[in-house]
Amino acid sequence: MGKVAALISGKGGTGKTSLSANLAAALSLMGQKTIVIDGDAGLRNLDLLFALEDKIKGDFGQVIKGQIKAEEAIMSSDSFPGLDILPAASQGHKFPVFETTELIRKFKNQYDWVIIDCPAGLGDFFRIAVNQADLLICVVNPDIASVQNGRKALAEARQHSKAEPFFVLNKVEAELLETGQIMSLEAIASILPAVLLGLIPYDLGFLKAANLGVLLMSNDEVAATVAIRRIARRLLGERVKIIVPRAEKKENQESQEKGFLAWLKKSFK
Ligand SMILES: Nc1ncnc2c1ncn2[C@@H]1O[C@H](COP(=O)(O)OP(=O)(O)O)[C@@H](O)[C@H]1O
Ligand SMILES: [Mg+2]
Repeated sequence: MGKVAALISGKGGTGKTSLSANLAAALSLMGQKTIVIDGDAGLRNLDLLFALEDKIKGDFGQVIKGQIKAEEAIMSSDSFPGLDILPAASQGHKFPVFETTELIRKFKNQYDWVIIDCPAGLGDFFRIAVNQADLLICVVNPDIASVQNGRKALAEARQHSKAEPFFVLNKVEAELLETGQIMSLEAIASILPAVLLGLIPYDLGFLKAANLGVLLMSNDEVAATVAIRRIARRLLGERVKIIVPRAEKKENQESQEKGFLAWLKKSFK
């Protein structure tokens, strides 16, 4: 029996989809059979991150309606063995409770991890996903609006869920945190009724990688992917210290750029 992790947030843009994709990839690299489900009906951001948008054969909505089998819609990642992706339903799709619940349960029996990238709004699918989840992972950024919205999403989720609540602080700039220029970890933790699962640095690599259709996790050396692998290890029950991750120093930007280009060249070989 696998575990279901529902990634939630109060509003869009905090990094749910980026984390869902990269965390699922990290888990698969650790030998975990993993499926990542795009729950954001209409937006379909997940298949873009895996550069699979041209290979879609069917979607979540068609599976729920019984038009096709789940196996026909699921795509396997070329770069991460053991990682499957289920594309999002089309816009306006309804999620009947029974069928949606059954599908998530079926995946739970087939995979070690079911990672659900939930929509930012609190609709039917959100409620069903958090209800089936073993873990809630609320993704917030270190600003008051994001944290307050995350708190609302957690409160709503917990009305429908007995899952353990966690949060991930994404887009962290270590220097700003350490010099008190942004909300402190203590202040954030006191607002969110959840346990801190990890911090991820602000890293433009997410954007660059997305534009190029390469998942950032393909580069195991950047601070952000190291941080996400620490989160994955924690999910697997390892005791991993919480640290404030440090993106590569600004003065190294030039060599970093070179490193990034070298990595891309390697990725496309
Ligand atoms: N740690 C990060 N550092 C910098 N940019 C990030 C980070 N995480 C996500 N992003 C960027 O933020 C934007 C929103 O991310 P996304 O994962 O789509 O958020 P959501 O799914 O919550 O709406 C994207 O452009 C993504 O590349
Ligand atoms: Mg998203």
